[in-house]
Amino acid sequence: MLLKEETHILDIESIRADFPILSRRINNYPLVYFDNGATTQKPKQVVDAISHYYSNTNSNIHRGVHTLSREATEAFETARKTIASHFNIKNDQQIIFTAGTTDSLNILSNGLTQSVLRPGDEIILSSYEHHSNILTWQLWAERNSGKLKVIPLKDDHSLDYSALENLITPKTKLISVAHVSNTLGLITDLDKIKTLAKKHNLIVVIDGAQSAPHMKVDLEKLDVDFFVCSAHKIYGPTGTGILYMSDKWLKQLPTTKPGGGTIKTVTFEKTEYAEGALRFEPGTPNIEGVIGFATAINYLNRFGIEKIHQYETELVNYAQDKLAEIPEVIVYGKSKEKAAVISFNVKDTHPFDVGTLLDKYGIAVRTGHHCTQPLMNLLCVPGTVRISFGIYNTKSEIDFFIEKLKKVITMLK
Ligand SMILES: Cc1ncc(COP(=O)(O)O)c(C=O)c1O
Repeated sequence: MLLKEETHILDIESIRADFPILSRRINNYPLVYFDNGATTQKPKQVVDAISHYYSNTNSNIHRGVHTLSREATEAFETARKTIASHFNIKNDQQIIFTAGTTDSLNILSNGLTQSVLRPGDEIILSSYEHHSNILTWQLWAERNSGKLKVIPLKDDHSLDYSALENLITPKTKLISVAHVSNTLGLITDLDKIKTLAKKHNLIVVIDGAQSAPHMKVDLEKLDVDFFVCSAHKIYGPTGTGILYMSDKWLKQLPTTKPGGGTIKTVTFEKTEYAEGALRFEPGTPNIEGVIGFATAINYLNRFGIEKIHQYETELVNYAQDKLAEIPEVIVYGKSKEKAAVISFNVKDTHPFDVGTLLDKYGIAVRTGHHCTQPLMNLLCVPGTVRISFGIYNTKSEIDFFIEKLKKVITMLK
């Protein structure tokens, strides 16, 4: 759905043609897909790369001498280089393939539990963390008499960084925060966090699940200990993601998920583990997923992530301005600096009702707690309606959504 007179810094019409699913009709309306925060749609280039892999190259990787195995290994390791280069990492071994953000955080917290975290230590999170970035640390805390501390929210729903330093004690070991809130779209001020972390010698973990799809992430410049994200939110396949770790941690973090591929030599008495990324990649990995992930990254880089960010910021501000004109709508975390996500509620209605009725017009939005129940408690709501944009969304779709939202509001009155 694109008006002819819409002009963009990107050729959205040809981008949309790359995503076969966008031509689907839902309930007799053209699909308006505003659920990109949950997962993005896949361009045909990604689908084709996976299909090509299975039709031509499928084989297990590493250790094989036959042609198919060597080709599959090369495709897998080239993907690692592509992804490392996208995040401006010179040593591609610092990119470890995992099953996604959640898996990366679990691998990481298990490794830190076995190495640097001690009983009674403290970990700092933010008020708007996804459950993935809460539960694994909470389990550690429960089992080790540890403590989780939380950066509070201000009245405008942004983080109160002025409260952060007071949370830090000699027992604080680590701070783990989302780069972008998956519910509010707010961008975390990582400079503030890193300055305090440096001063107090804290390990910094960045959950980039919602930043990597929408903005330039230069890991060399970011200079943090760990960064995690998922391919499926960046137009790649499900079941794949990365755990980036700094050079220091690549050497120090123990493997907690051993298996074939992670080793140099094994005897019944002792195992010597491999160096680099392989040490953290047990078993047969998601080969086609990794190849699809790199294809998605190459696809995005045809346009440039900075341009995508600029375009999506335009969409967010356009939608926020339109929502502000509807008196019944409450937007959470209103800011002009958002990464493609807006959460709102319609006064005196349940978000499920709004979402269900919007679906009747082919509009896919997410409703509920968005895996951020602690944030919902702070906002005093059971859930919100969340719209989240991707590279293929348009202002015409936002106009259509606003028109139908107004209709839904009158239906629910
Ligand atoms: C901020 C954030 N962290 C973690 C996750 C979990 O990602 P995955 O389900 O891909 O592991 C999500 C998913 O929505 C997210 O938005």
